[in-house]
Amino acid sequence: MAFKVVVRQWQAPLLVEAGATILEAALAEGRPYPHGCRAGNCGSCKSHLFAGEVQMAPYSEFALTPEEAKAGLILACRSVPWSDCELAYIEEDEVAAHPHRVLACRVAQLDRLTHDTMRVRLRIEAGGPFDFSAGQYAEVTFPGQPVRDYSMANRPGEDMLEFHIRAVEQGAVSHFVEAGLALGNAVRLEGPYGFCYYRARHRGPIVALAGGSGLAPIKSILEEALASGARQPIHLYLGVREERDIYLEAHFESLEVRHPNLGFTPVLSEPAAETGRRTGYLEDALLKDFDDLDGAKAYLAGPPVMVESCVEVLKKLGVRAEDCHADPFYTEAEKARLIGEK
Ligand code: FES
Repeated sequence: MAFKVVVRQWQAPLLVEAGATILEAALAEGRPYPHGCRAGNCGSCKSHLFAGEVQMAPYSEFALTPEEAKAGLILACRSVPWSDCELAYIEEDEVAAHPHRVLACRVAQLDRLTHDTMRVRLRIEAGGPFDFSAGQYAEVTFPGQPVRDYSMANRPGEDMLEFHIRAVEQGAVSHFVEAGLALGNAVRLEGPYGFCYYRARHRGPIVALAGGSGLAPIKSILEEALASGARQPIHLYLGVREERDIYLEAHFESLEVRHPNLGFTPVLSEPAAETGRRTGYLEDALLKDFDDLDGAKAYLAGPPVMVESCVEVLKKLGVRAEDCHADPFYTEAEKARLIGEK
């Protein structure tokens, strides 16, 4: 049994099998539905429900506030239709539409970026070409490991796919990457996913905020922007705990030399020793450096707490909510906690 779901942006209705979410059905058919986490945490799939009934699985209030739910908004990634429905997703300026791919890859390069972060480069062996928008992510399955989401750090169209994988506490997969992954290993990859991607049509300033290995999608976005000739001011901030967590500094410094519109600022929240670097949290740095960011677009990737507090400050500085593109990294434990709290 399937329900007919009319999405106002599309000509043909979508058939959603009983028990499936609207987003699952849309992505399975390769239709471009805005989304990010696919787990009720980011709010990217927010939609107006005009007619019909859905049942919503648990989600975080960051993604959909009680007021929004009362006003008839739903999250497509958590909504299982209970009848035929009519809805519309919240319109975005540019929707990324790429074919959904399942790729067979092989580890072609493996090196250490910091004491706890590895860089993995994969060569695609079958299933390509893999088109994606800078800033998107993929589901990655390393040998014998459960699937995890990781953002591509390379620009679309480059030969190899690059991922930055930080060992998280109790993170079985990230520890496997550090200790067990080897050159030549086969890796399955599925995607692309995500809504925090580069909007090329925007001409205002860009503020890019990365927490730790959140630098991966931000790197992809900025490299794409610079390579496609973006001339507006681009302010990149990397928030890490201490000196040893900073990575790719020489890379971004060399980009700064070639592109005077780019500024790169590492910020240390808990420096282990006296330092000449900026200290504090990213939101403090924003408040100190800017009076007004009206017309700017912000891209954020990193831990949810960082993303949420920076978005709040960006809005105070005049960035419109729809210009804040966030990709919070929820660990498996955080996802379980958020859903449990609902
Ligand atoms: S809340 Fe639905 S994709 Fe993130």
